[in-house]
Amino acid sequence: MPPLGRLLRTAAILGAVPLFVQLALLLSEEVSLGGMVLASGAIALMALGLAWFWLVNLARLSAALRAAAEDGDAFSAPFMTPRLPAVADIEEGLTRLARSLQARHALVGQLRAADEAIVENLPDPLLVLAEDRSALRANRAARQLFGLKPGSAGDLAALLRHPALAGTVDRALVERSAQGTDLHLPVPVARELYAQAIPMNPPLADGGRVVVVLSDRTQMRAVERMRADFVANASHELRTPLASLIGFIETLRGPAEDDAEARARFLGIMATQAERMRMLIDDLLSLSRIELSEHQPPQGRADLAELLRAEVAALEPILRGTSIEVRAPESLIADGADAEQIAQVLRNLLENALRHGKPTGVVKASLARVDGGIRLPNRPGLLLTVADDGPGIPREHIPRLTERFYRVEQGRGRGTGGTGLGLAIVKHIVNRHRGQLIIESEPGQGARFKVWLPGE
Ligand SMILES: Nc1ncnc2c1ncn2[C@@H]1O[C@H](COP(=O)(O)OP(=O)(O)OP(=O)(O)O)[C@@H](O)[C@H]1O
Ligand SMILES: [Mg+2]
Repeated sequence: MPPLGRLLRTAAILGAVPLFVQLALLLSEEVSLGGMVLASGAIALMALGLAWFWLVNLARLSAALRAAAEDGDAFSAPFMTPRLPAVADIEEGLTRLARSLQARHALVGQLRAADEAIVENLPDPLLVLAEDRSALRANRAARQLFGLKPGSAGDLAALLRHPALAGTVDRALVERSAQGTDLHLPVPVARELYAQAIPMNPPLADGGRVVVVLSDRTQMRAVERMRADFVANASHELRTPLASLIGFIETLRGPAEDDAEARARFLGIMATQAERMRMLIDDLLSLSRIELSEHQPPQGRADLAELLRAEVAALEPILRGTSIEVRAPESLIADGADAEQIAQVLRNLLENALRHGKPTGVVKASLARVDGGIRLPNRPGLLLTVADDGPGIPREHIPRLTERFYRVEQGRGRGTGGTGLGLAIVKHIVNRHRGQLIIESEPGQGARFKVWLPGE
């Protein structure tokens, strides 16, 4: 029901013109006073009715408009009052407008949810920062990286305080373009990150002004360092025998030119040094070849027992008092194995055992089928073990033995002719065969190298 004052005012506006016409007719004596009173009463009633009708229609329209603006749902209740045709048209238009508003509303909701899902599930750690540089949001990868749990900021605070990151975020906001920086976080574990700050203009739905994308480069940097170390080590290893060769050549050309005895001795040393360089180059080439093929598992078949016996026989000339005891079945076939590479593994392990075992000791080599076991995969496989009775390997060195050029005693390896690449080669070959290398040793108790290969 429209307010009375407004109803009367509207009725007065609607009835004013016909009333004035009545008055004019009365003055010109066209109508009688009685007729005028009757007509005026009718006009007033009609004006009141019309005004009520109009006001109710308009009130309904404005209520619908307000509802549409607030939640996009304009005419959910049936329209009971009789309607003016124009108002009916407007009402129809409004209903359509409200529906399309509603559809858009739903679409925006969907887009927002999709946007959040993308940010949440991106594999790179991602932070959304507010105007004041505080973190509004961190996706799953970032929560994992910083150990964030509900109610705990983990070590995110340290990252946000990092001067390099703060500077990059400021630059991104001022220059309105993405900016990147390398970050080194020393605690709780040393990490190398690359951070990219991307300004959001306009801001994100949650008020985010900057998105920081992080990538963990710790591993990549470690690989880069290893590569650089490898080149440095390889050149160093080659330079030592080369320097000795150059030195002897100079001596032979100069002071020892006519000394037949010295010449014979020096040539002997030179031959050893040249042989050492050849071995090193062979090992390096072999290593890079194996690395190249490491991702393709071998296809051939190899009889491990036969290979083991052949390698042991080939070592006979260099035994010098040591003996090798072999315990293996008549034949042990490995499917999906590269015979040449398996032979290389056997040679390396046997040579190491001979070199580091007791001078008159016994090296034990054995081959067997296994089905699980301590420290072994819980699947059927073939196990090769080479054990010696030498001084063994101190525990702290064991995990590093398969690194290139790693020797337990730097001097000893060089003196006895090893390049320090043998176990690196073994490790890569075993990896290519999807097997495992297990090194066990107690100081003073010898060392045991086990190679497990998958196989029935
Ligand atoms: N059976 C073993 N007993 C004790 N130490 C060993 C044994 N096998 C290897 N090591 C140690 O591991 C180091 C690395 O071995 P690896 O076979 O990789 O190199 P190398 O024997 O020195 O040289 P290469 O095998 O290339 O001729 C050796 O220098 C040695 O210190
Ligand atoms: Mg070796």
